[in-house]
Amino acid sequence: MSKVTVVGAGNVGATCANVLVTSQIADEVVLLDIKEGVSEGKAMDIMQAANILGLNSRLVGVTNDYAKTEGSDVVVITSGIPRKPGMTREELIGVNAGIVRSVTENILAHSPNAIIVCVSNPMDTMTYLIHRVTKLPRNRIIGMGGALDSARFKFYLSEALGANINEVEGIVIGGHGDTTMIPLKRYAAYRGIPASTLMPAEQLDKVAADTMVGGATLTKLLGTSAWYAPGAAAAQVVAAVIGDQKKMLPCSALLEGEYGEKDLCIGVPCILGRNGIEKVVEFDLNEEEKALFAASAAAVHKTNAALA
Ligand code: LAC
Repeated sequence: MSKVTVVGAGNVGATCANVLVTSQIADEVVLLDIKEGVSEGKAMDIMQAANILGLNSRLVGVTNDYAKTEGSDVVVITSGIPRKPGMTREELIGVNAGIVRSVTENILAHSPNAIIVCVSNPMDTMTYLIHRVTKLPRNRIIGMGGALDSARFKFYLSEALGANINEVEGIVIGGHGDTTMIPLKRYAAYRGIPASTLMPAEQLDKVAADTMVGGATLTKLLGTSAWYAPGAAAAQVVAAVIGDQKKMLPCSALLEGEYGEKDLCIGVPCILGRNGIEKVVEFDLNEEEKALFAASAAAVHKTNAALA
């Protein structure tokens, strides 16, 4: 039996719950929101879809009733306000820090052993805040950003190559911000063949640039922050934990000297399994990538400094 709580029944939280149910990732899912009726309504809608699809996962929606989240194996925190067109993720810090802090305390009061997946923005800083509030070991707190950014990288790569989206490889490390994320062009590949040998350098540069503003592009088109891929990426992280998949996904992890950084959460390749972040994978970065990573870490440190 696996139990997952998703806090925040906005677009991202509800999509995550929907994927957890429709992909039968968790046996039992609780969707919690402070807004009366919203989580109940969305949960009912998803369960009626589950009936049509013949699925067996159970989802309930609750209004701020943390007692119902008791004993969750994994808790996904999506609470907070999303960005509007023209806003950066970093501008959300003031409002979202208070929300994430109180949600985290409520969650741990009822599920003291849960693995926490942080989705709220600015994600790296909110993940760091959860560490500061809880003092939990670093394996227990996973920031979801790199999985999403890597999906966007692979999407743009597959478009540029005219390739099946599942046959391309791409990894994005660094902060989950428009200027801080680092799509690793050198490691982008099509069935193992370096993408750099398959397209002109300018085209690969554009793929990387489009990836970096992937979220902002959608925010402009939609009038609010994206949700299908963010929700699915959060569910992918949950699946890796619940299923003890030992899957390598770039996630925001508390660094303890890896990549020359400490006392911050930033996107790095992680092995995810039943114990959360079971390993931070270190691999060689070239001089250019090292410089980008150092600049990204400096920017994330700066955002962290704005935490009260
Ligand atoms: C995005 C938001 C969820 O990248 O950060 O779409």
